[in-house]
Amino acid sequence: MCARAALSQSAKRNLAVQDLAMQNLAINVLLIGSGGREHALAYKIAQSAQLARLFIAPGNGGTSSLGDNVDLDVTHHSAVVAFCCAHKIDLIVIGPEAPLVAGLADELRKAKFDVFGPSKAAAQLEGSKSFTKALGDEMNIPTAAYARFEDVEDALAYVKEQGAPIVIKADGLAAGKGVTVATDLSEAEAAVKDCFAGSFGAAGHCVVIEEFMQGEEVSLFAVSDGKNYVTLATAQDHKRAYDGDQGPNTGGMGAYSPAPVMSKELIARVEREIIAPTISGMAERGTPFSGVLYAGLILTEQGPKLIEYNARFGDPETQVLMMRLTSDVLDLLLACAKGDMGTIAPTWSKKSALCVVLAAKGYPGPYENGTPITGADTLNTEATHVFHAGTKREGAELFANGGRVLNITALGDTISEARDLAYETVERIDWPEGFCRSDIGWRAIPKESK
Ligand code: AMP
Ligand code: GLY
Repeated sequence: MCARAALSQSAKRNLAVQDLAMQNLAINVLLIGSGGREHALAYKIAQSAQLARLFIAPGNGGTSSLGDNVDLDVTHHSAVVAFCCAHKIDLIVIGPEAPLVAGLADELRKAKFDVFGPSKAAAQLEGSKSFTKALGDEMNIPTAAYARFEDVEDALAYVKEQGAPIVIKADGLAAGKGVTVATDLSEAEAAVKDCFAGSFGAAGHCVVIEEFMQGEEVSLFAVSDGKNYVTLATAQDHKRAYDGDQGPNTGGMGAYSPAPVMSKELIARVEREIIAPTISGMAERGTPFSGVLYAGLILTEQGPKLIEYNARFGDPETQVLMMRLTSDVLDLLLACAKGDMGTIAPTWSKKSALCVVLAAKGYPGPYENGTPITGADTLNTEATHVFHAGTKREGAELFANGGRVLNITALGDTISEARDLAYETVERIDWPEGFCRSDIGWRAIPKESK
């Protein structure tokens, strides 16, 4: 443990978050990640009057204007702890799933730092599909019927018995690629064989086979300190690469908030049937979930059912949420990290937000890095923000450096107004090697004009 943590953390822990805010204590934050999600979090953290210094590891071409990008190997936990000691970090916010599943939050907590993000044990909600299915059984959470296999022949026999459509999932983290929704038996069998043949490495040593569920997909985010939770404003992602929800699954090609499909009644039902039993089930097991629980849901004829959990904020959903958040994001993140969520109630703009993702041509398959982007640096206003993901700067120039590259996010009185402003802004960016969907918001916009 570092000297500073030993000296002051225990004293500070006794202060309620509101006291911290009132005393306007200057807070040093380390934000881990490099995506559009992290740029959006950095943008909001940088607006906080409580912030002293913001470090982003590794950050991207956009975060460098909000704080210090630092070249820190986050797989090297002791290096992260040493950095936090050296820079007197008060709060670590872990953006992506990989460091959470690897136990970075545990190491930092052991060194007495306040961390936003679940422990390794709780991050199993994202890290292992069979872990989540077992919790679902235990807590009676509505979800797809399933079976779990460690043997290829048993799995193939089960697929034959069940028939198609059927869903084949590698158990572990597979960068969003481990799920096959098989429409016929041969596709299902190929997916099973693929998993066991090692296509997803250790993630595929165990396979979960699920009943196919039909309905509109939605998501809900709940920030929990392990006991209490608060749900955030609603947001809807667009997972497929091309217009009309065609093409391969991606990390997300655009989002909007609020999502009109998520009525108050529906949110209350999802909280009651899915979120609350998950939070209490994890606490009862002795592995409380502290961080943001991202529920991927499907609205079936029998009601909302859980598809999967993520143990982190969604990307690009965070971009639209941070544009609409009117309260101090550090209040929320600190309250969660300190286990003191009792009175926290984030507030949201009445405006709508919409985000269009600009990706490198070829994404989610192979794509070229290093292509120049111009015109993206002068577009930010109160109503628009260009959040970076895979970008890097060389002097004054900006280059693509990843699959999803820019997130053009706009606010409007309606989703369609936000959409128009976002696409007008996209038009002002010159990047011939990029592409985007042209129909972000397609489900919500017709509902608005009724
Ligand atoms: P996941 O990585 O578990 O979110 O799955 C990726 C995508 O596969 C989801 O967003 C759904 O579109 C689809 N999916 C996963 N499980 C099912 C299921 N049981 N029934 C229908 N679609 C599913
Ligand atoms: N937007 C999907 C995800 O963050 O996984």
